[in-house]
Amino acid sequence: MTNNWTPESWRAFPALHQPTWPDMAELEQVEKALSSLPPLVFAGEARSLKAELARVANGEAFVLQAGDCAESFDGFNADAIREKLRVILQMAVVLTYSSGVPTVKIGRIAGQFAKPRSKPTETVGGTELPSFLGHMVNDLPFSEGNRRPNPERLIQAYHQSASTLNLLRAFTKGGFADLHRVQAWNQEFVASSAEGQRYTDLAAEIDRALRFMEAAGVSSNHPEIHEADFYTSHEALILEYEQALTREDSLTGDWYDCSAHMVWIGERTRQLGGAHMEFCRGINNPIGCKVGPTATPEEVIGLCENLNPDQEPGRLTLITRMGADTIRERLPELLGAVKDAGHPVVWITDPMHGNTFTSESGHKTRHLDDVTNEVTGFFEAHQEAGTWPGGIHVELTGEDVTECLGGAEPVADADLGKRYETMCDPRLNGRQGLDLAFRVSELLR
Ligand code: PEP
Ligand code: CO
Repeated sequence: MTNNWTPESWRAFPALHQPTWPDMAELEQVEKALSSLPPLVFAGEARSLKAELARVANGEAFVLQAGDCAESFDGFNADAIREKLRVILQMAVVLTYSSGVPTVKIGRIAGQFAKPRSKPTETVGGTELPSFLGHMVNDLPFSEGNRRPNPERLIQAYHQSASTLNLLRAFTKGGFADLHRVQAWNQEFVASSAEGQRYTDLAAEIDRALRFMEAAGVSSNHPEIHEADFYTSHEALILEYEQALTREDSLTGDWYDCSAHMVWIGERTRQLGGAHMEFCRGINNPIGCKVGPTATPEEVIGLCENLNPDQEPGRLTLITRMGADTIRERLPELLGAVKDAGHPVVWITDPMHGNTFTSESGHKTRHLDDVTNEVTGFFEAHQEAGTWPGGIHVELTGEDVTECLGGAEPVADADLGKRYETMCDPRLNGRQGLDLAFRVSELLR
């Protein structure tokens, strides 16, 4: 049992990037209601993910963590969830086929509703209002009513997470994710592109391999072929929500945050001595922590000691987000320090958040070339350090949006306005996601 920790011990520590709730009594009511609702995931599932991540820490598997920057209460429907899952499954197949190791699939989904922002308020035409902090807290259109933090949204986030998770479970266990359908995952708008053609060729090879196995008398009738394990994750930002869903596992007596299989601490809230660090150290889920370009080896060792004092493989994933220009300079000493200290971390790269800029057309965007460049720098640094480049963490959607630049069929600056739909950061579309998977698969070879 973790020393002096309780699900609410974080309250004695400073929490950054929190909403200013106008009515604390209302928030408390909501917390009470949430605490009596069923858990979204089970402790045993979080333990399975931890075991899979332990394999990644050992260099025996690769992680694909992907999904929206911020999920939305609007446009919440089965098609959007299926399309997101579809592109993640496609990318995972590409990665697994080229690397020869399993791909651990984790969505930024079913709970990714809260955002830290660079400024707490936004001023338009002389009016200053709270910034948009994600649909778990407030709404995007600029008006006083929309921007007022509303605790009822925590309940709505819970219910949307529950139905999203329900659908994901149905899709991944009910036949949609069957490897025999690997061809059928190719969406129309992807299939007609260069990336889509490349995927079609690879899918045909997988089909042939499955048929060969069957012809040779090796049954492909295994759950691994017919079903996929798909895990959920989000940034644990609003700690009242996370605490309300933290439950004691009846089997082990350990505490798990049952809002998702894995939660992570963001770059802006990873202070040692901060509330987010305190909360996460006591839950037994696999934990992620973003590590940006200013992180020192001492800080990183500090968070390893704090979040994983027992050095349990699979417990801690460090998600580096350095920027394509700085990763080669900043990452090597962190890898060296963690290796020397003997901490068994999973290293994955978030090549999105260090590469955001405003284009000439005024859109917040990212270029797929910068994303690829950061991933390449990540692989180079690991090769040099003799450590395993354990995976990628990306923001994407299954829709044919135009939010990021580049790709085999490039999105240009002039295209960004056509379908720019994200509520927060720019996401790769289905083609760009697949393109990235092929580029990563070349690095994995
Ligand atoms: C995010 O993942 O959307 C995010 C805010 O990232 P970071 O904490 O790395 O800035
Ligand atoms: Co983001």
